[in-house]
Amino acid sequence: MKTSSDTPLHQAIALCQDDMTRVDACIRENLQSDIMMIPAIGNYIVGSGGKRLRPLLCLLVAKLFRYTGERHIPISVVVEFIHTASLLHDDVVDSSDQRRGNPSANGVWGNQASVLVGDYLFSRAFQMMVADGDIKMLALMSNVTNALAEGEVLQLSRTFHLGMTEEECLEVIERKTAVLFSAAAEVGAHVSEQNESMVERMAEYGMCLGVAFQLMDDALDYLAEAEQAGKPVGHDLEEGKITLPLIYGMQKDEALRDRVHAIAERDGDAYEVGDREWVREHVQEHQGAEYAMQRAKDYAERAKALLPESGDAEIVQLLRDLADFSAQRLY
Ligand code: IPE
Ligand code: IPE
Ligand code: MG
Ligand code: MG
Repeated sequence: MKTSSDTPLHQAIALCQDDMTRVDACIRENLQSDIMMIPAIGNYIVGSGGKRLRPLLCLLVAKLFRYTGERHIPISVVVEFIHTASLLHDDVVDSSDQRRGNPSANGVWGNQASVLVGDYLFSRAFQMMVADGDIKMLALMSNVTNALAEGEVLQLSRTFHLGMTEEECLEVIERKTAVLFSAAAEVGAHVSEQNESMVERMAEYGMCLGVAFQLMDDALDYLAEAEQAGKPVGHDLEEGKITLPLIYGMQKDEALRDRVHAIAERDGDAYEVGDREWVREHVQEHQGAEYAMQRAKDYAERAKALLPESGDAEIVQLLRDLADFSAQRLY
């Protein structure tokens, strides 16, 4: 995966360095188990260099509100565990063999191990919330985990749904991805004991940022190279995912519509390199990815407008930059 040291992501990590070190320690502590495969797979996936954007959002929002307690550390880990568990499951569902620039866990240990360790991470996250002892937090995170599962099932049920509208596409995005970003920002405000309206605003900020993030992910599937993305690209259609770049391209191009129909009829089987390149070229010709990126930018603008004007200017600026990063990232 390509990274550069001057992205807002790196600036945010630098600003939260102490907290991030504690988050990493807390991650490792909570991957301990006498069943050796659990720490083996757990350490493999969390050690392989994810962006840690969700825990960062939680830490930054807590910092914004000058939180001085300790709860933000385990709660950030809860958010990252839920994310990691969903990736372990997602790579099985998507038959994906690469993650974070390495062979995916299912590629190394197989599907069964990935599903089971994903379950372990979900349940560990819930144990950690019980230890935190806040029923509101538990309610929030259990609702999010439930929405996330619904989002993935909803997406599955819309496999090769060629009539997918932009609205339906955004519904999937909100439920499968944005809800967790929303929760990350929301819990940062919640632990800092902000009033309800501020907690809601931060939740909405996270939601808009999360939509931008997934729209960009869907654009990168048509734009990026696998080396840069650290995961397979040009893979969404093969899995039957009708995302915004493709929806836009199909609106403009009858030949593209026909080809996608033929691919759908084969249920993505015998998806050849020829299909992948042809579809990518045609989506690019009509600037489908650019359209999705423009929509991502709109969501990033909405996110930024929700940030409070008061508070530490550096942190507010970083939260703004992270919204922009989500809509412009290359990895
Ligand atoms: C990948 O999320 C899954 C999506 C929601 C697109 P990230 O891109 O945040 O994954 P890591 O943690 O940085 O690998
Ligand atoms: C996001 O969807 C996955 C989850 C929310 C679990 P994708 O399937 O697009 O994510 P990548 O591209 O595999 O990272
Ligand atoms: Mg996937
Ligand atoms: Mg993707």
